[in-house]
Amino acid sequence: MKILAIESSCDETAAAVVEDGRNVLSNIVASQVEEHKLYGGVVPEIASRRHAEAIVGVVDEAIKSADCTIDDIDAVAVTYAPGLIGALLVGVNFAKGFALATGKPLIPVHHLRSHIASNYISNTELKPPFLCLVVSGGHSHIVEVRDYTDMKVIGRTRDDAAGEAFDKAARAMGIPYPGGVELDKIAESGDENAFPMPRPRVDGSPYDFSFSGLKTAVINLIHNKQQKGEEVNVPDVCASYRRAVVNCLADNFLLAAEDLGYTKLVIAGGVSANSLLRRELSKRCEGKYQLFMPEKYLCGDNGAMVGAQAYYEYLAGHIAKTDLNAVATLPISENLF
Ligand code: KG4
Ligand code: ZN
Repeated sequence: MKILAIESSCDETAAAVVEDGRNVLSNIVASQVEEHKLYGGVVPEIASRRHAEAIVGVVDEAIKSADCTIDDIDAVAVTYAPGLIGALLVGVNFAKGFALATGKPLIPVHHLRSHIASNYISNTELKPPFLCLVVSGGHSHIVEVRDYTDMKVIGRTRDDAAGEAFDKAARAMGIPYPGGVELDKIAESGDENAFPMPRPRVDGSPYDFSFSGLKTAVINLIHNKQQKGEEVNVPDVCASYRRAVVNCLADNFLLAAEDLGYTKLVIAGGVSANSLLRRELSKRCEGKYQLFMPEKYLCGDNGAMVGAQAYYEYLAGHIAKTDLNAVATLPISENLF
């Protein structure tokens, strides 16, 4: 089954053709990041407008580079939640128009479920059940993936998401948006023991995260140094901060795995591209857990992951009608269809 999949929840206009949930025939991503960089973050109004301009060309290219015509496509899938509402609406309306014009089924896909599904592409043998750490710009969750469309969140951030915490700290050091990527690169040449960082814990909820204290600590550290006229050693600050964030993520994730008896562990979302997170989990999982990660090109937002999850939503009978609407916030566990 060939699914045309569309993603427009944030600042990438993306489309892909994916066969049977695992085989990517094309994957086109048009990023708006250079424009949002000028403002230090995503400007929702601009994002929606750029999606509207790009979507026809991106979908056209996805179909062509899959060596397909519209007739070869069996269904259209789209990210409908969660995300920036105006941005989501562009993809949703495009997919509705496509479904209406072609008479093909319309499959609604939850954005975080699709991040998890990027792993089905990179690890073709992977099947639920497993425990997944989903870390993106907007979310940090530990999710029990009991089946392809049956999920339960057992840990979440109480404040900033991991990606947001990376981006905000990076911004305080003058690293342009989205700073998480660059901070990760700079940290490679720094000393992670240079600056002591707090170890935030959420009382009574051992799997929950809290990053705002950590973020404030690093911002204060930079401001204090600047006020005293001292030089900030950016690589050392990046490395110490990255180590602290990664320890929080890895500690809680592995504790949950141990407590709940999972042996298959999976990471997903933009922050799953973080080099230290990948190295640290690989090291700590060795001989004890099977660890699955998406290839780096599938960690950020893309259409292929939407096509992967859509296949399983389709098999579960989750089909939308043409009154499908975009939803800004929706728990990963919820099925509206
Ligand atoms: O999943 P994603 O592409 O979009 C959302 O759904 O939010 O995640 C984007 C986030 C940004 O905050 C970005 O800075 C972060 O992922 N990110 C990273 C890395 N690559 C992307 N954070 C840390 N290290 C990286 N290598
Ligand atoms: Zn995302």
